[in-house]
Amino acid sequence: MARETWGTRIGFILAAVGSAIGLGNIWRFPFQVSQEGGAAFMVMYLAFVLLIGFPAMLAEFVVGRKTELNAVGGIREFAGGMWSYLGGLFVFIGFVILSYYSVIGGWVLRYVVGSFTGGYVGTTAEGAPVAQQYFGQISTGMDTLLFHAIFMAIVIGVVAVGVKQGIELAVKVMVPAIFLIFGILAVYAFTLGGAGQAYAYYLSPDLGYILANWKSLVPAAAGQGFFTLSLGMGVMITYASYLDSDENLALDGVSIVALNTGISIITGLIVFPILFTAGIDPATSGPGALFVSIASALGDLPFGRGVGFLFFLTVFIAALSSAISLIEVVVSYAIDEFQIDRIKATSVAGIAIFLLGAPVTTDLVFVDLYDIFAAQILLVLGGVLLMISITWVNADQAVEELQKGIGDLGALGTLWIWMVRIPVVVVLLISLYLGITGYIE
Ligand code: PHE
Ligand code: NA
Repeated sequence: MARETWGTRIGFILAAVGSAIGLGNIWRFPFQVSQEGGAAFMVMYLAFVLLIGFPAMLAEFVVGRKTELNAVGGIREFAGGMWSYLGGLFVFIGFVILSYYSVIGGWVLRYVVGSFTGGYVGTTAEGAPVAQQYFGQISTGMDTLLFHAIFMAIVIGVVAVGVKQGIELAVKVMVPAIFLIFGILAVYAFTLGGAGQAYAYYLSPDLGYILANWKSLVPAAAGQGFFTLSLGMGVMITYASYLDSDENLALDGVSIVALNTGISIITGLIVFPILFTAGIDPATSGPGALFVSIASALGDLPFGRGVGFLFFLTVFIAALSSAISLIEVVVSYAIDEFQIDRIKATSVAGIAIFLLGAPVTTDLVFVDLYDIFAAQILLVLGGVLLMISITWVNADQAVEELQKGIGDLGALGTLWIWMVRIPVVVVLLISLYLGITGYIE
């Protein structure tokens, strides 16, 4: 059977953007910012995305396009030797991330439905307690388990049919919708009384804070950088493997990083003014930050429920297109390596992932436990091994592949390889060490 390919170059970019933009930008980002001291985190995060995430993304791209294989087979062929086992880690990471990602996806779905009943809506004056209470009710329990099951069922349904059309369509609608709806909400947030205080908190970093807290800032920024760009577990290898022509991968990477970062920054411009105006300390808002802030703002807005419906529907689509990429790593592996039928592979993996995520619906502490483990430990571990295997083992082929569609890179190619070989790898190893020691505490 011929391997699937993207219909067009833009199809590939959209799919990668669809994977990148997700709960990582909209749910996880504001919650990481608030847990790691606001603007100080922003500085570290932006540095990670640009100096580590971008070169790492190019490395994943070249492996995928060169080998035209799934993440497991791709790295085995590209680097060989003991690196052949690395793919097993990718599949494991996909299972872990999707297992709790789907639980959060279920919360979002619950808010889509809740837009009709209006249960979550308050006003910034008295609405914050209502919004907080509502979040408390829906974030754990039997209903949460049910919505987790529904989310996974939708993921299985879409991926079983084949990803190409679904993803391309989803992203063509989703990305413009996010910019439009979030743009409106950001303007609204700008008019609120707490906006000034929020911008200072979010956008003006305090060097003293960074120096005093780098031991938790560094692994948090590394984890968020990999998570948000879908790096460290072969998603970008898998997606680039469906490319059938040689275009400029660096340019594609720039677009993907820019769109993804833009959405995160705008999300912060919405969430923090609302939290400050409602008198909620961001540091205590935790994984509910997004839900509580949006829900308490909607009561103030004309057509609040309508806006809420569009907002959460868009977030749902963003989450779905990322979830698809997570399970696709597992599914493409099963199909390529074991010739398992797509429908069977998707269903079995999906059910296992549902079961792994079930404990997360019992208590919010599991959200943290799974999330920090996945982002700060697993993705950074996957990322550092991936970067070593690409740039130390087979650098010539990596540069050669990147040059297709760009032309002779000269010194820039060498710079890219050495940048990944030493600074990126060293910073990731430090992040990993700090992440592990922080996690054990
Ligand atoms: N990048 C996705 C997000 O920000 C999450 C993700 C992580 C997807 C890792 C695939 C792989 O929501
Ligand atoms: Na993202």
